[in-house]
Amino acid sequence: MPITTESPKTSPSRRKPPSLGALSLAAAGMALAVLLIGSGTFLWLGESGGGGSVSIGGPFTLTEGSGKQVTDRDFRGKYLLVYFGYTYCPDVCPTTLNEVATAMDKLGPKAARLQPLFITVDPARDTPDVVKAFTAAFSPKLIGLTGTQAEIATVAREYRVYYAINRTDKGSNNYTVDHSSVLYLMGPDGKFIAPIRTDETGTEIAATISKYVS
Ligand code: NI
Repeated sequence: MPITTESPKTSPSRRKPPSLGALSLAAAGMALAVLLIGSGTFLWLGESGGGGSVSIGGPFTLTEGSGKQVTDRDFRGKYLLVYFGYTYCPDVCPTTLNEVATAMDKLGPKAARLQPLFITVDPARDTPDVVKAFTAAFSPKLIGLTGTQAEIATVAREYRVYYAINRTDKGSNNYTVDHSSVLYLMGPDGKFIAPIRTDETGTEIAATISKYVS
């Protein structure tokens, strides 16, 4: 069950079956192969061939759509469904967030225990206002977060998220952002519970979440 990395140039359809085997990801000068083993255990293999289970998630300080600073601790006591993407994403991000909104509807009373978060990997364009308008289009429950380049780099590293700017033309705004596309289910204690694939439907996402959220 490989994790898909979205690249607008190569994935016109999100329903395309993911390729077999691990994806090679180049991030921060380090190539990582990502394998998903069994139900919910990540194995991260470094370029040198070393490997082992590593933690997913960690402390962050980011900015909400209202401009307010929030930290990971502000969400303690709630399950989190964390997704990294960007508002200019042509395909996978909006589709995924649509399915997240559907999942929230399907969860019924359990939805009250779950906070979906969208964290941008394109903070240069995704200002708090932009993120707020974007998330509001999917669900009033969805909170969008942005930050400085350094803050985003930190949280992305903690969640093992790969992202890279892909210039499409001259001009500062002419780029897409390739990024890994995974939903992270986190516990009320802030600890990682399980990854959820973004090619699942909202109904499937809700069913997976239901297994973990009491
Ligand atoms: Ni995207």
